[in-house]
Amino acid sequence: MKIVIGSDHAAFTLKAFLIDHMRKKGIEEILDIGTETESLPCDYPDIAFRLGEMVVQRKADKGVLLCGTGVGMSIAANKIPGVYAAHCHEPETARMSRRHNNANVLTMGARVLSPELAAEILDAWLESDFEGERHLRRLSKISDYEQKICPSCSLSEKGKTIVFDHPLVQHKVSIIRDKNTSVKEFRELVQEIAGLMVYEITRNLPLEKIQVETPLAVTEAYALEGKKLAIIPVLRAGLGMVDGILQLVPNAKVGHIGLYRDPETLMPVEYYCKLPGDIAERDILILDPMLATGGSASAAISLVKSKGGKKVSLVCIIAAPEGVSKVHGEHPDVDIYTAALDSHLNDHGYIVPGLGDAGDRLFGTK
Ligand code: PRP
Ligand code: URA
Repeated sequence: MKIVIGSDHAAFTLKAFLIDHMRKKGIEEILDIGTETESLPCDYPDIAFRLGEMVVQRKADKGVLLCGTGVGMSIAANKIPGVYAAHCHEPETARMSRRHNNANVLTMGARVLSPELAAEILDAWLESDFEGERHLRRLSKISDYEQKICPSCSLSEKGKTIVFDHPLVQHKVSIIRDKNTSVKEFRELVQEIAGLMVYEITRNLPLEKIQVETPLAVTEAYALEGKKLAIIPVLRAGLGMVDGILQLVPNAKVGHIGLYRDPETLMPVEYYCKLPGDIAERDILILDPMLATGGSASAAISLVKSKGGKKVSLVCIIAAPEGVSKVHGEHPDVDIYTAALDSHLNDHGYIVPGLGDAGDRLFGTK
């Protein structure tokens, strides 16, 4: 875990105390962005903005901001789209700010807390994880609002949308669109399309040199470097893409996220989440054949990020422009790979022309 910490002059001593405390707890990556002295007054917004931007740009996993009361830091940091700063006086609020609000910045006051209590609050905050589920829906209302009032305000790196125009992919997509395609053929084709897409998506995975002994000689060869891929299907329909990818990348770890779209509100409802323990170190591909309103995909990405995921891409087969805008608006750092970008959504949130309900067509449940 990488923590960035900053304070103004009033909380300089508390900052030093908490850095020492975190080191003793085994947190190795701590970025101290100042201030450097308590004798020279500085302005808390300067520190808050710098730290907040680092958190949003994922240069650190979480941030800690300290000033006299913690209030100024919290007000300033919360101006940054994508920062969710929680101002805490006791451990339970800190715990809940992670579990329910997915707070990515903690603010505290050096003039109102003893160093020991501040350390206790910090521990409670760092040790608690976001619980997702109904809280995801609420947070997505906040990010929707941020997006509505300022669509271009995001500070994260810009993600790309890559539409696969390979003839083999296009040919297979035409067949799965056909309402007369059988469940068996639909399932096989979704696997094949996912495999073809991942062949291209993984083009830039890093390689390392290894030595291999052939029957004739020892030679230099290449293997994929370090921790590699994690694929995360969004249940149900994302499951249809898993085997096609595992055939090519058999060592990829597989996580699962259970989400369905409430038919009335079209809002995502989370019912399951199990991710690989080393998710932070892997390139992550979230799989879902359909990107319609983008509610499900955006919620899935938020969940993965809240569990430590950093390099996240979304792989779908058919996307609607509405879904692409939502995902790029809320997660501008995420690349979207799709085999087709369709025209629009109908009144029920279905992609037109699309292919109908992907889960039903994969599993024959209509
Ligand atoms: C489908 C699809 C996506 C979601 C897309 O799942 O697989 O997850 O809808 O819609 P959105 O972009 O508007 O959120 P569905 O909710 O039908 O669940 P299922 O896979 O269990 O059938
Ligand atoms: N989910 C689907 O399966 N299909 C759509 O067109 C939209 C959402």
